[in-house]
Amino acid sequence: MDFNNLLIETAAGVATLTVNRPQALNALNGEVLTELAAAFYQLEYDPAVKAVVLTGAGEKAFVAGADIKEMAAMNSYEGHQFALKGQHCMMAMEKMRTPVIAAVNGFALGGGLELALGCDFIYASEKAKLGFPEVTLGIMPGFGGTQNLARLIGKNRANELIFTGKMVTADKALAWGIVNELFPPEELLPKAQEAAAAIAGVGTLGVAYAKNAIANGLNMTKEDGFRYEASLFGVLFATADQKEGMAAFVEKRKAVFTGK
Ligand code: HXC
Repeated sequence: MDFNNLLIETAAGVATLTVNRPQALNALNGEVLTELAAAFYQLEYDPAVKAVVLTGAGEKAFVAGADIKEMAAMNSYEGHQFALKGQHCMMAMEKMRTPVIAAVNGFALGGGLELALGCDFIYASEKAKLGFPEVTLGIMPGFGGTQNLARLIGKNRANELIFTGKMVTADKALAWGIVNELFPPEELLPKAQEAAAAIAGVGTLGVAYAKNAIANGLNMTKEDGFRYEASLFGVLFATADQKEGMAAFVEKRKAVFTGK
């Protein structure tokens, strides 16, 4: 599929998906969101893709937010629909079996930070700046940010970030647990691709079920989450990957996983 605002490159099980609208600091308009949803679907069902790295084009921004020029003219109904459209993308990433790593190469603001938070984890450049400036525009986060940020770092830190609208440095985002690791700008993409390659090299179904257990378990009681985990664990013993992974260990060789 051809996209106007996205680039996709796939190599050795890893797809690098780049939001490519650098003239607007990769801001998310309706068309970009439509394309992102289609790209996630395409990547999820591409057998050559086992992990995804999501980044932004150019040196300045990951994504500087939802497109303010497009939102400026929206009425209440359109704003609601726009929020739902962005949330659909975040949910699509959460429901994908394929892990998505955000490589935050610059500004990740508003809907851009929400896009990163929708990924399975975040690596960032040491120069990245993150924040939720929505309140400075008279609005609030609407692509799942209030939910994902509070679940990730807790209510009080989420409140501070969202109520003040202030940007934080990459160091602070790391200290607060928004970002897993920081890298010099030129190392960020290779490091994210390296992590994705590590994921691509292990048992695909084990990764997919673990992702499913973590994402769904967060919405369950601990006891239900334990039960759910055990069920998925049991199912893995019906897979070729479990037979291969354990046989390879016993035979002291490298496992060759098929994702079946
Ligand atoms: C549309 C944007 C944009 C955005 C930048 N641009 N961010 N266009 N929507 N979110 C455009 C600028 O208009 C400009 O184009 C070009 O990108 C370069 O940006 P500059 O502002 O000239 O760059 P700079 O001075 O370096 O400032 C960088 C910046 C600033 C600090 C990141 O661009 C900025 O504050 N952007 C807005 C950030 C923001 O408020 N994001 C949250 C949006 S609300 P032109 O053609 O004019 O030169 C949101 C809601 C999500 O995300 C939920 C929705 C439901």
